[in-house]
Amino acid sequence: MAASEAVLQVVCGSSSYDFHSVRPNKSKGCKTRRRSSVHVQAQISSRPFYASHRKHVFHGTNKLESLVCNCKRVENVNGDANNDHEGARSKFDKRQNSGSLDQIVTDNGGFTSKDKLHIDGLNRDSLHKVGENSVEDEAWDLLRSSIVYYCNNPIGTIAANDPSSTVILNYDQVFIRDFIPSGIAFLLKGEYDIVRNFILHTLQLQSWEKTMDCHSPGQGLMPASFKVRTILLDGGDAATEDVLDPDFGEAAIGRVAPVDSGLWWIILLRAYGKCTGDLSVQERVDVQTGIKMILKLCLADGFDMFPTLLVTDGSCMIDRRMGIHGHPLEIQALFYSALLCAREMLTPEDGSADLIRALNSRLVALSFHIREYYWIDMRKVNEIYRYKTEEYSYDAVNKFNIYPEQIPPWLVEFMPSKGGYLIGNLQPAHMDFRFFSLGNLWSIVSSLATAEQSHAILDLIEAKWAELVADMPFKICYPALEGQEWRIITGSDPKNTPWSYHNAGSWPTLLWQLTVACIKMNRADIASKAVQIAERRISKDKWPEYYDTKRARFIGKQARLFQTWSIAGYLVAKQLLANPDAAKFLINEEDSELINALSCIISANPRRRKRGRKKQSFIV
Ligand code: GLC
Repeated sequence: MAASEAVLQVVCGSSSYDFHSVRPNKSKGCKTRRRSSVHVQAQISSRPFYASHRKHVFHGTNKLESLVCNCKRVENVNGDANNDHEGARSKFDKRQNSGSLDQIVTDNGGFTSKDKLHIDGLNRDSLHKVGENSVEDEAWDLLRSSIVYYCNNPIGTIAANDPSSTVILNYDQVFIRDFIPSGIAFLLKGEYDIVRNFILHTLQLQSWEKTMDCHSPGQGLMPASFKVRTILLDGGDAATEDVLDPDFGEAAIGRVAPVDSGLWWIILLRAYGKCTGDLSVQERVDVQTGIKMILKLCLADGFDMFPTLLVTDGSCMIDRRMGIHGHPLEIQALFYSALLCAREMLTPEDGSADLIRALNSRLVALSFHIREYYWIDMRKVNEIYRYKTEEYSYDAVNKFNIYPEQIPPWLVEFMPSKGGYLIGNLQPAHMDFRFFSLGNLWSIVSSLATAEQSHAILDLIEAKWAELVADMPFKICYPALEGQEWRIITGSDPKNTPWSYHNAGSWPTLLWQLTVACIKMNRADIASKAVQIAERRISKDKWPEYYDTKRARFIGKQARLFQTWSIAGYLVAKQLLANPDAAKFLINEEDSELINALSCIISANPRRRKRGRKKQSFIV
């Protein structure tokens, strides 16, 4: 263990712990394990009061508090000091409590409660025999059955709960990005515990010891996923220990860095505060530190010339090689959104002035860069078509030296006369013209795109419905990489064959981001239409992870069934369409200071103004 690490002990017992009791405690002498995990040790024999120990290892940070779990009797859970909103006390708390005495030893995603086993035992086909309006009820049952428990408390949802799948891979884990729609569905339902637990436990994992082949990724990185394992302790007294096992990409296929995890975590944290009205979580010292660590990692100086975040391939929802290394739109939209959310939540204190200044400058530069250089529509394609190249000067129009020959033939057909979108990536001499859905949708949600651009993106979605929605919403990107391009860019990936999986497969989970974007622009009818299409078959098809073919006609060849974020994505879309006001928990409205700063940059831009000033910097 590194010298800077503080080993903190947490005493936890019974089936409920209180995250609100945070006390400085530098107690030493905790036993440690070689593996970096969170442990909960439970003496099953002494229920309902059982003792357990959790050890936290923090290093290189100022998180020197320990969490003290105040143990309570099962029957006291509903009236505890966790600041829960009474009405919000979830049914699953009761379910979980009733099952807590029958915990089994498992390493399978922490599915440890009796009730979970009961739901697993349901004849899933019977779920489809119920009336048409019960798709939502079925989705709720399935979502609840995907809940993972840690120390007998709900902490997240498993990625997929597919009984027919023989190869589990890491689908038995709680993925940070996959949990976002689950968390939002629970928030909108008034069930807050699981979201708070998720936020606080993943925060503990953030500062975990993590290495890959002797290399430690940056402080502040959030894991891609984690798993709860309940292990039997030596001693023969049926005592068990819950272990949280994070994966920072060091075990993931391709060893991809989960850049989006921390960004989503910040977005969920803000949604939690807005939805519950309980700001005490975001105001906690350790949570504030967690936010700052993510920001510092993202705002750290590097070699970049652009304000966009430079990442490796597969660092987001598309977590395999798909030619999205560099400055992919999805990451930029999440980054922008997370910066805005963080700015809202950071409590002013002396030490954070520089960070806030850096954050503000980045927001301005990032929105200018994306709005100006990622945007394409008919007018812009025409401009690129006539670009002069090899312009060496401060005043170049074709700043990135894009050769017009790069305009792909499909774009000529795809670009509608009304509408436009943000391209997938921009690098020196390279524009990735593919349409990436999540990046475009989240640019609307976060106001990274202007209002005009946001409407144009939705116009394009309407105009290109057959390409982007067809038989199942929503294509992850358009079009597919085929032939030689597929061979070179994906490395002949047999999972990412054309019109499948990340290579232009259709992902029902994207329904929720589509819905938030449509509601923000007062065009909810587009999302309603998409939801109706999904409803025709998603339940009959057993909630697949993705669909294949140009029109999304087939269930994805290697798709998991009962994929949790397909279920949760559908539920969030339904909830928001029924109560569009609730979308404001997720939306970032455009900020007037930013608009002012942007208009200064735009008026100083040589493309819009005659050449003059060489360089200008703006600090908001
Ligand atoms: C796939 C997806 C990724 C998701 C994971 C778990 O790897 O590409 O975005 O988080 O499955 O569902």
